[in-house]
Amino acid sequence: MLVLGVETSCDETGVALLEVTSGASPEDLPRGLIRGQALHSQVDLHRLYGGVVPELASRDHLLRLLPLLEQTLQEAGCRPEEIDRVAVTQGPGLAGALLVGTGFAYGLAAALKRPVMPVHHLEGHLLSPLLGAPGLGFPFVALLVSGGHTQLLEVVDIGEYTLLGETIDDACGEAFDKSAQLLGLGYPGGPEIARLAETGRLGRFPLPRPLLHRQTLDFSFAGLKTAVLTQVKKAGGLSALGAQDRADLAAETQQAIVDVLVAKAMDALSATGHRRLVVAGGVSANKLLRLQLSARAETLGASVYYPPVSLCTDNGVMIAWAGGLRGLRGDPGRAAGVFAVRPRWPLEALGSDAILA
Ligand code: KG4
Ligand code: ZN
Repeated sequence: MLVLGVETSCDETGVALLEVTSGASPEDLPRGLIRGQALHSQVDLHRLYGGVVPELASRDHLLRLLPLLEQTLQEAGCRPEEIDRVAVTQGPGLAGALLVGTGFAYGLAAALKRPVMPVHHLEGHLLSPLLGAPGLGFPFVALLVSGGHTQLLEVVDIGEYTLLGETIDDACGEAFDKSAQLLGLGYPGGPEIARLAETGRLGRFPLPRPLLHRQTLDFSFAGLKTAVLTQVKKAGGLSALGAQDRADLAAETQQAIVDVLVAKAMDALSATGHRRLVVAGGVSANKLLRLQLSARAETLGASVYYPPVSLCTDNGVMIAWAGGLRGLRGDPGRAAGVFAVRPRWPLEALGSDAILA
């Protein structure tokens, strides 16, 4: 099944063509072959504002989609008529940005007379490690760490998700982004903090590890940025911080976030008894997080799976993959027609057959 994936929920325009096939035997997981992909990141557009400006995001998606589709088709050596399904992020995300991608996908599907597969953005992230990880199967614990979400889920099968814990305030990606802003770094903040932290030393700027020792799988990151701000003020403001000070504070910030994510992920493995942990979302690109998660999981006899770094942040491939997997499970998709987007859409509400609601 040749699936076109379209992603426009936030600040990346992603288009991809994926050939999705069933495994050789019923026990084998389906396979996905990337035939073509194109991605445009809007980070330069939003950098000036220190965060995503929704109206600018929508307009830019509109400009990019068609050229990205043409580029993807050319790379794949395909004609539009060869597309079997059009998978598109229906939510959650920025309403205007979602409308652009969804409108585009429904229009294309109507012209081609093909069904649309509406995809939940977070399901796209959490199923992405299944693309090219032969040892991975259900069930597993998923740690979803992005700019908008921080969640621990028990994943029994496609569409069978139980929320184990989530952030009660800021997402961990937001903690990276906001702390980066306080340190005078650019957007997005995660990679900037990670880069600066490479030369930083731990122990100079004490920062909290919120909810670390509480018996909950929930997270809280809002206090962390306040603590970073307090440290900056204590040092006499940003201008009084030298290069080494900023690197040290960046290292401590990264470590504080990683400590909490690692501890809660291990607690979730212990609570569920599962021995597979899938980590997805933009923050899963973080090297320290990967290193420390894998080391701690090993002590529990558990394995950790990540998407390839190129698929950690938003992209069209993961949307095509999620839509394709559902298609192989017998989901017929929707006839192109009236559509709606779902800017707020809890993942747990996603029953295996309820995606089209
Ligand atoms: O999944 P994603 O691309 O978009 C959302 O759905 O939110 O995640 C973006 C988030 C941003 O907060 C960004 O700072 C963070 O992922 N991020 C990182 C790294 N790369 C991206 N955070 C820490 N370390 C990284 N290497
Ligand atoms: Zn995302």
